[in-house]
Formats: sequence, C-alpha cells, structure tokens
Amino acid sequence: MRTLYFESYDRMSKYAADMIAAQIRQKPDSVLGLATGSSPLGIYRELIGLYESGQLDFSQVTTFNLDEYCGMDYRNEQSYHYYMQENLFSKINVPASNIHLPDAAAADPDAECLSYERSIEQAGGIDLQLLGIGHDGHIGFNEPDSHFPAITHRTMLAEPTIQANRRFFASQDQVPKEALTMGIGTIMKARKILLIAFGADKEEIVRQAFTGPVVPAVPASVLQLHPDVTVLYGK
Ligand code: GLP
Repeated sequence: MRTLYFESYDRMSKYAADMIAAQIRQKPDSVLGLATGSSPLGIYRELIGLYESGQLDFSQVTTFNLDEYCGMDYRNEQSYHYYMQENLFSKINVPASNIHLPDAAAADPDAECLSYERSIEQAGGIDLQLLGIGHDGHIGFNEPDSHFPAITHRTMLAEPTIQANRRFFASQDQVPKEALTMGIGTIMKARKILLIAFGADKEEIVRQAFTGPVVPAVPASVLQLHPDVTVLYGK
C-alpha cells in the first residue's frame, strides 16, 4: 500500500486525475470503477480539463459506478446517475453505452445485482477503482458489518451515513435508507485501487482503516490486503 499526504485538496485531486489519465493512456480501453460523494469532484474537474484540452480521450473507456440509492429514478437530482452525468459523463466523450451504474429502480433488485456483477466480469474486470471513504469506514455502501460482502448486493445504510447524507435532501424522510452497491469482493477484484480522503474529519477513520486491524467493522481496512492500493489523503 502506498500512502501519500497532501496539504491541498486541489493538488491531491490533480495527482489522482494524473493516475487515472496514465491508466487510460497506457490502456485506452480501460475499465474504470468510479465513485460519488464530494471527494472525487476535484478529480472529475481535472479529467474534464484534460479532455477539453485534447490531452485525454475517453472514447474507448468503460465505467462502472460503485453504487446507487434504492428506489431512486435516474432523473432524480439526488441520484448518483444524475451526479455522474452532471459532474463527468456529459462533459467528456465516454460513449453512453459504456457507462454503467446499478439500476436501483429495477423491479427485481437481486437480479439487477447479479447482472451488474456479471457485466463487470464480461467487460474484463475493473482496471482502476476509485474510492472515497465514509466516516464509519464504508467504501461504496459497504457499511460496518460482521462480514465482508462478496458481490454487488442490496444493503441498508448505517445511521451515520443517513445523517451525513441528510444535507443533500429537503427533509429527513427523503434521505434514502437502502442502496445497491458493489461488494467488498467486487472492489477487491479491481487490479488497482485509488482511495482519496481529504479533511480533518476523515483523519481518524483513515488512521483506523490503514494502520489498524483488518476487520469488517471498518470495511476499508480490507484494502490492506490488496496488492496495488494507493491512498491519497490530507487536510
Ligand atoms: C457515499 C458514497 C461513498 C463515498 C462516501 C463519502 O456514502 N456511497 O462512495 O465514499 O459517500 O463521501 P464524501 O466524499 O462526500 O465524504
């Protein structure tokens, strides 16, 4: 595991975007695993800049997002579908047919999870997975648990996560309580992992996850067992 400390969010974002750009230049048909939340916004801005200045081409790239809120229509502004369109996809040249997010409005969520997992395999697996980290150590929406979930699945969000997401919704009852998420096993199969965390509020969980024991109560700690992880953090 490689860990790098940054004093500037912008510099951290640029470093991460350069890693993603290097991946795409080395393998133009890379399969990227993408994340939402506030942490990756700087990276997406950098990637858009590289595309606009003609330095990066996404025409052969395939993307799989980590997760989506249950019952959320893709047109809803709070959905991760909407977030990705707004903050990245509509501003680069990745073909719409290469973009994947779990369909959390699917009539049969369990079938959707299996089919999502299969699509990742059929695409050849994820070359580079981008991750943020929740204050309780969750990655994707794999919350603290008694085990590490293997594959894409439906999950209940933990109370701290529901509270953290409250700021994005008009009222408490609009905050989603369930999501579809890649499993820990899905994430661990990615060939390379890049995790970003910025801010004093993430300091303690980063310390626990990467210097503490590997336990499902701190889901991100499992990344200590992955052979190619880069953690970028700072405050
Ligand atoms: C959500 C997402 C995670 C993300 C986390 C942290 O729970 N499902 O993928 O890492 O938020 O978000 P932020 O970067 O806003 O702190």
